[in-house]
Amino acid sequence: MPHAADPQAPGASPFAKSSRTRLTTRDLGRFPSGTLFDRIGRAVCHAECLPRKELFEAWEVARRVRRVCRGGRVVDLAGGHGMLAMAMLLLDDSSPSALVVDTGIPASAGGVHDAIVATWPRLAGRIAFANESLDDVALGHDDIVVASHACGSLTDRVLDRATAANARVAVLPCCHDHAIGDAGALGGWVDGSLAIDIERVHTLERRAYRVRTHTISPEITPKNRLLIACPVPRGGPRDDRGAQAG
Ligand SMILES: C[S@@+](CC[C@H](N)C(=O)[O-])C[C@H]1O[C@@H](n2cnc3c(N)ncnc32)[C@H](O)[C@@H]1O
Repeated sequence: MPHAADPQAPGASPFAKSSRTRLTTRDLGRFPSGTLFDRIGRAVCHAECLPRKELFEAWEVARRVRRVCRGGRVVDLAGGHGMLAMAMLLLDDSSPSALVVDTGIPASAGGVHDAIVATWPRLAGRIAFANESLDDVALGHDDIVVASHACGSLTDRVLDRATAANARVAVLPCCHDHAIGDAGALGGWVDGSLAIDIERVHTLERRAYRVRTHTISPEITPKNRLLIACPVPRGGPRDDRGAQAG
C-alpha cells in the first residue's frame, strides 16, 4: 500500500521544487489540501512519472498566463509531458481543447494525461498530442500558444509561429544561445541571456503585440523569465480579450 510522506516529520528531506525527481505516491502528503494545485499534485503523483520541476513550472506559468489570456485552443509547443497545457485547461474550462506538440513526446506523457483525466473526466478527449515539429503545426488567431523551456532559438521559432498567426503567446525561455540569439544593442551592458529576452520583447512590440513580463520563483528554475504577449487589435490600444490584467 503506498504511503504519503509527512513533510512535517522530523528529519523529513527538503522538497526542492526544482528537482527532476519524479513525483510518486510517496509524495502525496506534499499536496494535502483541496486547492486546485494540490489536487493536480495528487493526481500526477499517481502517474509516478512526472519530474517534480515540471509540475511547479507548469502551474506558475499557467496561472500567470490565465490572468490575462482566457479561452482559445491551448497549443503547448515543445510541450513534453504537456503539463502546461493541462494546467491551462484546468484553470480555464472555457478553452475547448489543448494540443501538445513535441518531436519527442515522452513515453510517460500518456500516464500523466490519464491521471489528470481520471481526476477531471471532463477533460477526456480534449487533450491531443502531436509528435511533430512546432514548425509544422497549423495555428490560428484564436489559439493561446505556450512554450515552457523551448531551448535556445526554439523559443524564437515559437514566437515567430505564434505571431505569424496573430495568436496570443507565452514563453518561459531557457538555454539562451549567445552565438545565435539576438542580444540587440543591450548586449554590451546586461547579461547576455537577459539582453536576448529584452530583444524578444522589442521584436514582439514591433510586431504590434502588447507584452507583459513576469518572473516565477527562482526556487523552481533559474530560467524564470516569463513573457506574455497579446496582439494589439487594429485601432485599439490593448488586447486583453476580456481578461483582467494581473
Ligand atoms: C527542455 S524540454 C521542455 C519540455 C516541456 N515544455 C517542459 O517544460 O518540461 C524541450 C522540448 O523541446 C522538444 N523539441 C525540440 N525540438 C523541437 C521541435 N522542432 N518541435 C517541437 N518540439 C521540439 C524536445 O523534444 C523537448 O521535449
